[in-house]
Parts: sequence; structure tokens; C-alpha cells
Amino acid sequence: MQKVKGNVFVTGAHGLLGYNLVRLLKDKFDVIALDVTTQKEICLDGVQYFQADITSRKTMLDLVKNHHPRYIFNAAAYTNVDGAETERELCWKINVDGVARLAHASRVYGSRLIHVSTDYIFNGNTGPYRESDRPEPLGYYGKSKLAGENELICSGANYAIGRTMVLYGAAPGVRLNFVTWIVTQLRANKNIRIVDDQIGNPTLASDLAAALIKLAVSSKQDIYHLAGSEIIDRYHFALLVADVFELDAGLIERIKTADLDQAANRPLNSGFFTDKAEKELGFKMATARGGIERLKAEMANAQY
Ligand SMILES: NC(=O)c1ccc[n+]([C@@H]2O[C@H](COP(=O)([O-])OP(=O)(O)OC[C@H]3O[C@@H](n4cnc5c(N)ncnc54)[C@H](OP(=O)(O)O)[C@@H]3O)[C@@H](O)[C@H]2O)c1
Repeated sequence: MQKVKGNVFVTGAHGLLGYNLVRLLKDKFDVIALDVTTQKEICLDGVQYFQADITSRKTMLDLVKNHHPRYIFNAAAYTNVDGAETERELCWKINVDGVARLAHASRVYGSRLIHVSTDYIFNGNTGPYRESDRPEPLGYYGKSKLAGENELICSGANYAIGRTMVLYGAAPGVRLNFVTWIVTQLRANKNIRIVDDQIGNPTLASDLAAALIKLAVSSKQDIYHLAGSEIIDRYHFALLVADVFELDAGLIERIKTADLDQAANRPLNSGFFTDKAEKELGFKMATARGGIERLKAEMANAQY
């Protein structure tokens, strides 16, 4: 395949979304993959990897100056929702200051910055949400992600923001996510407890990566809700996972969020309307079952 001229940066390249972005972009662009630590064993062929911390103003300015990326996809983030309640400074540094550094470098050297945010900026009282709904984060992670959005919007950079939720998928070396955790536990015949009062759109990471690439090549300077096309509660989603992976759904116990005693409050009645992205970007993402089926195929192909 002939490559499009120009470099593309992916930050957080060893994370779940970052890996899927690099995988989809690498045949079409010259991809430069950045992360705080680089791990040789999970690097993809034909991609240049650099160790780079997005919170370092000088590192980001130098990299953007030297490589002139046409697009910068920011998949780097502090993503530990409960940890953020105690590691506030670190969370803010990455999710707010890091975005500001990237936005600054993008503005100075004319790159287009595609940033990723979350439904945790909403309180979950009145979902599903539209892009224009008023945010009110419940926890520190959500507060930092909202502040990161605002840094970018006010920066003067060419940008777009894709908000997503309940991200799951496959990538080597990443932490387990909702779906891969369920599969691992059920394969080991372990009982698991899943809440039935958290509602949202489960989103396959490779599907989100493809949507973000569409968003990048559009000239839209706006916020889009990029999430799976179906709203479902976690318990019923877990039953679908068991069904598609042919595992024992009898091991899944139905509980409430209050039973978990988590450090951060969750937006319960969340979910996104996705029609704006469908209309303006021409991209419809997978249903709950469709996404799990695609993940199963991805895992079989990649053998992880
Ligand atoms: N996961 C979800 O359910 C979900 C839902 C809604 C929105 N999102 C958003 O989606 C995006 C991607 O999430 P994800 O689940 O793919 O995250 P992830 O797997 O945790 O990946 C984030 C990556 O960023 C790296 N990183 C952390 N600090 C960095 C820094 N200062 N400079 C450079 N890289 C840094 C991490 O390295 P370490 O692992 O070494 O820290 C990790 O490789 C994030 O913006 C997140 O807020 C996620």
C-alpha cells in the first residue's frame, strides 16, 4: 500500500488504544510511536519508537519540531480511576499538563492534535449524553479529563476530541480490561461479580482507533462521542462476553455498584448518543455483540 506523505505521532503507544492506533496507521503513514517506557518485545515492524513523556515541554517541542507530524494522536493518559483519588498530582500532570504541552507544540509547529476523553466527565444521572450536555465529573479522574479537554480547546491548536467509554480490546503487554478480565476469569472457572447498575456503550479499541483516524483526516474542530453503537449494562454485557467466548455464564453473579466499595464514584446512568459522529464522520461503531465477536477474531489472529 502506498503511504500518505508525512509523519504521524501516537503517544501512549504501548497502551490499549495506542497499540491499536499504531497497528492501523502504520501501513498508511510513517508512524512515530511514543510512550514513557518503550518495550522492544511489543514494538511493531516498520514503526519508529521513542521514549517520551508528554509532560516534558522540551521533549515534546523538540520531537514535534524535528519530525513535523501531520497528526498527533494522544492516547497517553493516567487511566487509574480509583488511583486518581489519591495520586492527584500525577493524574493532573499527565491528563492536564501533558495535554497542554502537546497542544502547545501542535500550535507552534502546525500539527493537528486528536485527543481522547471520557464519559467520566458526566455525573451519570441523566444519560445518555450528547456532546453539548453539561459536564459534572464525580471523581478526580473525570475532573482531570475535563480540564484536559478545556486546555486543548483554549490552546489555539488545530484539534478534535473523541470521547469514549468502557474501552476493551486486545494488545500485547497491556493491563486486563473489562472484557479480557472476564474471559480470563471464566476460562479459569472462577466466579465473578458484575454490576447491573452501570450503563454505557462498550467500545472496541480497534473500532475507536479507526474512528479517530477518520476524525483526524476530517477537518472538524469539535468534540465527538465515539463509542459502541449500543447502550447496555455491565452485567448483560458480561453475559454476552460469556456467550460469544463459549464460557460458563453461571459463574457470573449480578451485584450493585454500591457492593464494590470503590474509591471513586462512577457515573451510573451514562451512555452516549453517537448520531453526531455517525452523521458527520460517516462512521458507525460495533454493537455490543458485534464488538465482542470482532475481539474474539482479533485475539485468534494475533494469538494473544
Ligand atoms: N480504558 C477505558 O475504559 C477508557 C474509557 C474512556 C476513555 N478512555 C481514554 O482513552 C485513552 C486511552 O486509554 P487506554 O485504556 O488505552 O489507556 P492505557 O492502556 O492506560 O494506555 C495509556 C498509555 O499512556 C502511557 N503514559 C502514561 N503517562 C504517560 C506520559 N506522561 N507520557 C507518555 N505516555 C504516558 C501509559 O504508560 P504506563 O502504562 O507505563 O503508565 C500507557 O502506555 C485515554 O485518554 C483514556 O482516558 C479510556
